[in-house]
Amino acid sequence: MRDKLKPDWAGEDFLSHFVNLLIGIDPLYKVMKHQARQVIIKTAHQKGVPWRETYQELERSGAKALLEQITNNSVLYPDYYKVPFHAYDQGNLSWQAAFEAIPATWAMALRVWPQEKLSWATAQERLRGSFHQILGTYSPQSVTDVLDIGCSVGISTLALHRYYCQRQHNFVRTVGLDLSPYMLAVAKIWDEKGEISEWRHAKGEETGLPDNSFDVVTLQFLLHELPRHATRAIFQEVLRILRPGGCLAIVDNNPLSQVIQNLPPALFVLMKSTEPWSDDYYTFDVEAALKEVGFEYRTTIPSDPRHRTIIATKN
Ligand SMILES: C[S@@+](CC[C@H](N)C(=O)[O-])C[C@H]1O[C@@H](n2cnc3c(N)ncnc32)[C@H](O)[C@@H]1O
Repeated sequence: MRDKLKPDWAGEDFLSHFVNLLIGIDPLYKVMKHQARQVIIKTAHQKGVPWRETYQELERSGAKALLEQITNNSVLYPDYYKVPFHAYDQGNLSWQAAFEAIPATWAMALRVWPQEKLSWATAQERLRGSFHQILGTYSPQSVTDVLDIGCSVGISTLALHRYYCQRQHNFVRTVGLDLSPYMLAVAKIWDEKGEISEWRHAKGEETGLPDNSFDVVTLQFLLHELPRHATRAIFQEVLRILRPGGCLAIVDNNPLSQVIQNLPPALFVLMKSTEPWSDDYYTFDVEAALKEVGFEYRTTIPSDPRHRTIIATKN
C-alpha cells in the first residue's frame, strides 16, 4: 500500500466532507468550540502549564496600554484572517487570544512527545532546537538580519534571535512581524529585555520592508492558518526581502506524519473546527509553490514526530 500524502480527514475525502458538514451545523459547532477550549485548558493544566496564572499575569501586565502604539492603522485585514480561529470568535484579533497564546504555545510543544514526561520548558526547547538545527545547516555563514513572520506573542522570535546571537557571537537584528497588534503587544511585554529590534504590525504579504534586507526569514506555524493564495503571496514577498544566498525556513504540521494522519476522531474534528484553512494547508504542495515563485527548494525534513521543516534559498 502506498503511503498517504495527507490525512483522510482533510481535503476531498468522504471523511473530510463529513467533518466539514458537522462543523457547518451552527449549534453543533458552538458546542464543539466550547468543548475544544475546555479540553485544551484542562489538559494543559494537568501537564503543568500555568494557563490561568499566565493569563492573569498578562492581563495585569500593561499590554493593553501598548495597543495603540503598536497598531499600524494602514493595515487592512484580509477576509481570510477575520474568521473565527482557535475557538475565538474574533480570531487572533482579541485580548483573549493574545493572553492565551503563551500557555497554548507551551502546551502545543508538550503534545509532540506525549509519552515522555517532559516539562513544558524542555518540550519548547526541543521543538525550537530541532528546527534551528536544520535551519543552521542551510542559512548563510554570516547572519546579521533575521525576520520572523507570523511571530504571534514572540516565543518563536526570541528563541530564533537567541540561537543566532549565540551562533554568530555578534549582534543580530531580529524583527518579529504579525497581523495581530494584540499578539504584538503581548510579545513586547514578554520581550522583557528588549532583545528584539522591532515588533512590526504588518501583513506577511506586504511587509513594507526594503528589498534584499534579510539573511533569514522564518514562517513558524503560520502556513496552516493561511489559504494557499496568501501563502503564495507571502513567498513572493519573502523572495523580495531576502538577500541573495538568504534562507527561508518553514516549520509546521507534517501532512505525512503518522501521528497527524492517525489522530483520533475527537482530535481531528477539534482541530478542523478551530483551524479554518486546514483543508487548504494539508492538500497544498508547498515545495512546488516555492519553486514556482522562484526559490531554490533545498529540503523537507520531519523535524519532530508531528512537524516538518522546509528550507528554500534565494539565488
Ligand atoms: C500559530 S501563530 C504562530 C506562532 C509562532 N510563530 C510560534 O512559532 O510560536 C500564527 C500567527 O500568524 C499570524 N498571521 C496569520 N496570518 C498572517 C499574515 N498574513 N501576516 C502576518 N501574520 C499573520 C497570526 O496573527 C498568528 O499570530
